[in-house]
Amino acid sequence: MSVPAQPLEQPVPGGIFLSRDTIASRVQELGAQISRDYRDRDLVLVTVLKGAVIFLADLSRALTVSHRLEFMAISSYRGASHHSSGRIRLLKDLDAPVRGQHLVIVEDVVDTGLTLHSLLKMLRFRGPASIEICTLLDRPYRRLVDIPVRYSGFTASDKFVVGYGFDHRQRFRNLPDIHLLED
Ligand code: IMP
Ligand code: MG
Repeated sequence: MSVPAQPLEQPVPGGIFLSRDTIASRVQELGAQISRDYRDRDLVLVTVLKGAVIFLADLSRALTVSHRLEFMAISSYRGASHHSSGRIRLLKDLDAPVRGQHLVIVEDVVDTGLTLHSLLKMLRFRGPASIEICTLLDRPYRRLVDIPVRYSGFTASDKFVVGYGFDHRQRFRNLPDIHLLED
């Protein structure tokens, strides 16, 4: 089997919004903060596929407290305007019960908050001891429902970004920096 000698060329879509170094140091800070808050607690990081997986991989390794990883996949119904309606369909559920455990939901970006609002309702029903939210990017001015975000990496502008997990039509998730998408 032959392996390409070099990775395929991938045109960089736009200028850098957050560099890998800036992201890395903020992720370390978040990891330290969560580690302080969850000392001696049964912690589960609940990640919603797929955007947050790159962030999760770094955040998990920045934690000094023991924890489990759980994944969920949901699809949100979007209206004609492409805005999320907040109604979600569960595509992949947690693998194990979370009753009595402390959950931190790991998200790529909190925008309208509608999807997260439905997700929180669904998870509260499972009887965890607590639920908090950790998001890499936050657009608080876009909120349509109030969402308590405990850990937030960066406040972002309204511009569409790609890289470090963020996609445009499933591409660019692999870029190490976060870029603004220019067409
Ligand atoms: P919401 O339900 O309106 O909060 O939609 C949030 C979802 O939209 C995120 O989980 C991302 O998958 C996607 N999204 C929002 N903003 C961006 C962006 O700037 N770049 C890439 N994806 C985004
Ligand atoms: Mg997406």
